[in-house]
Amino acid sequence: MVDRGPKMRGAETRERWAESITARARAYWTPQRRKGLLGGMRLLCPPWEAAPLLRALRLLRGDASMAPDAVRKYMQVSHMAGLLEPALRGLAGRFSPLRVLDAGCGSSYLSLLLGWCARNRWERPVEILGVDRDPVVIRRCRRSASAAGLEDLVRFDVAELGSLDVPEAWARAFGRASGGRPLVHVLVALHACDTASDDALALGVSWGAELIAAAPCCQAELAREWGALSDAGARGPFAPVWRSGHLRREAGATMTDALRTLLLRGCGYDVTAMEFVASGHTPKNTLLRAIRVGVPDPEAFGEYVALRDALGGADIRLAGLLAGPASESTSDGWTKPR
Ligand SMILES: C[S@@+](CC[C@H](N)C(=O)[O-])C[C@H]1O[C@@H](n2cnc3c(N)ncnc32)[C@H](O)[C@@H]1O
Repeated sequence: MVDRGPKMRGAETRERWAESITARARAYWTPQRRKGLLGGMRLLCPPWEAAPLLRALRLLRGDASMAPDAVRKYMQVSHMAGLLEPALRGLAGRFSPLRVLDAGCGSSYLSLLLGWCARNRWERPVEILGVDRDPVVIRRCRRSASAAGLEDLVRFDVAELGSLDVPEAWARAFGRASGGRPLVHVLVALHACDTASDDALALGVSWGAELIAAAPCCQAELAREWGALSDAGARGPFAPVWRSGHLRREAGATMTDALRTLLLRGCGYDVTAMEFVASGHTPKNTLLRAIRVGVPDPEAFGEYVALRDALGGADIRLAGLLAGPASESTSDGWTKPR
């Protein structure tokens, strides 16, 4: 059978295609190749078990092999999902359906992988909504979901994160109103560009998500502010960093993440910043994992202000989005948004 992948049409049914790619994957992934791919690691959806999903996502070729680029993406989403799995499994036992928002979902690697895990590993009802501002990408996501047989639990919507109306988007995607708060139990965002990660984090906080997991990408906001300070001839202990474009970007990304963790803690989250995958698979490999404890931490806000001021005084976008008095250095409290 010629594998035309997720675009197949006509008499060739999805089931037959899925059986066929599964058979090819089992033949291709010999014990030696499995070891070559994973070493001793156990991942949630190895290609020999999740071939239709991975083929629908174009992470597998027609012969079930994986191109080097695909290996990198596969490792990113698999490791991120693996790190979140214990929390997701627990939440799936508490909320039915568990509602997961994938903010800046791109080609839906993470949305569909989580959908596959919910069906095949956790066996719990979920609604996963992938949101992206690119309509072409979203059309492709819908085709992939259908090819993977996950279109009933993973849906997509075209929207800007900064102006996303979550209840409306959910109703559009799943065809009914959500039935009251909390609407979003889990917020994930993998490599949402620059300040889109801040929009994603703010959405998670404003909806009281139990779990927020963001792996930010190419933050440029602080670097821009620092460049302006350098151009204006500003002086300070960080001026050597402000003067170098490369150092601005590198330090700006790390400091943005540090400031984000403080703001999330201020809003009542227990936050861990960790490396989620080896840097060979992506240099953007910091994961901010925030678990809601529900008790705001005003001291974290004070730390935010101290760090912000030490760095030159520029707020990050998340501070403004969280609507609290983030730019007031004398604040003794924190107003959780909405
Ligand atoms: C680098 S891609 C990552 C996609 C996907 N999460 C992944 O890891 O493969 C970033 C995606 O975020 C989307 N995006 C960026 N800013 C956005 C915004 N403000 N609102 C909605 N989507 C956004 C882009 O269209 C793009 O598809």
